[in-house]
Amino acid sequence: MPTLTGRHIILGITGGIAAYKSALLVRDLVREGAEVQVVMTPAATQFVTPLTFATLSRRDVIVEMFPATPGQPTAQWTAHIDLGVWADLMLIAPATANTLAKITVGMADNFLTSLVLALRGPLVVAPTMDVDMYQHTATQRNLALLRERGVHVIEPESGELASGLTGPGRLPDPAIIMDVVRAILAGRKRDLEGKQVLVTAGPTQEPIDPVRYIGNRSSGKMGFALAEAAVARGARVTLIAGPVHLPTPSGADRVDVSTAQEMMDAVLGRFENCDVLIMAAAVGDFTPAAVAQSKIKREKAGAAHLTIECVQNPDILRTAAERRSRQILVGFALETDNGLTHAREKRTAKKLDLIVLNDPRVEGAAFGAETNVVTLIGRDDTATPLPLLPKLEVAHHILDRVVHLLPPAR
Ligand code: C5P
Repeated sequence: MPTLTGRHIILGITGGIAAYKSALLVRDLVREGAEVQVVMTPAATQFVTPLTFATLSRRDVIVEMFPATPGQPTAQWTAHIDLGVWADLMLIAPATANTLAKITVGMADNFLTSLVLALRGPLVVAPTMDVDMYQHTATQRNLALLRERGVHVIEPESGELASGLTGPGRLPDPAIIMDVVRAILAGRKRDLEGKQVLVTAGPTQEPIDPVRYIGNRSSGKMGFALAEAAVARGARVTLIAGPVHLPTPSGADRVDVSTAQEMMDAVLGRFENCDVLIMAAAVGDFTPAAVAQSKIKREKAGAAHLTIECVQNPDILRTAAERRSRQILVGFALETDNGLTHAREKRTAKKLDLIVLNDPRVEGAAFGAETNVVTLIGRDDTATPLPLLPKLEVAHHILDRVVHLLPPAR
């Protein structure tokens, strides 16, 4: 695991009840060797005193932009600019709806928001608020815009909120936030510079008639995390996505497809020029033999049964493997029984360099989860299990393996 020794991290704390949990974040960051500068909004000081964070971070906490006595010189006058250059990463946790709105439009009305504008490194935000504020269109649009600008948004956890309501809005466990911070800083190695990486993500949809399809429950999050991580490491990334409503990681080229055949065409058309193909998509194995031109009526389908004849879809990975020259091939295996055996067989049959095994029944690895629990199996069939990690960090572990498989740069 990478540590944070010598890393400069700004922890921004805004005015939400979860501010008390930020104390644990300061403690964990300092424990891992980071130098932590805490910056609070004035509202945050209503929840927790700056003294708590100053003690834990062993640095004065910055709240105000201007000196208490107007006109007095202050060492902090240009501190937001200096800190913007100093920081390897800024994390705002908790991030209120108000601060998120301000940073979306580029307001600079307090020290923290001014610092965000002066920041050169990556910005991570952990939105934390009541469920209705979080789900409000204004907040969701702001988050979508921030994501588009490359801001890392750590999704809030669902559960009981301070208001007594239940839903998304809780600050995730500090361990999850720490994993994201580590992953982003690890990702800044740029060890995939100049490499062309092709990633597939999400489900496929096989039409039955104009309104129905055969699909699956893949959320696409693992593939999108892989694309994000590969961009961060300097790769040129094409993300071939099945039908999912996820924001495109900034810097990745996205190609939207629907059926397995469309995905196959999109992959094979780009395969020759790529260095790495990662098939994280859950490609449908079967497709209806014929697509009805108009909606199949209940009456027409017969009494109690409807039979849809299906044919097998082409296997994208197998086809790619037959055409490979230098490419590294990574596949996923979703197994519920005898996972290791099946994954090893699949890796050999599909001639893959690496297979990523996961079991959706394991806690934290379900469809749509922010985290995953996987085992990596390489060319020598050795199985390396990884602990429960955010998908972005799982992505970096996979890319660490890919980097070692690539031929050395000349
Ligand atoms: O055989 P299975 O579907 O379990 O293999 C999973 C791996 O193969 C995944 O990486 C998936 O993206 C890929 N796959 C494919 N073409 C298919 C089916 C699966 O490339 N038709």
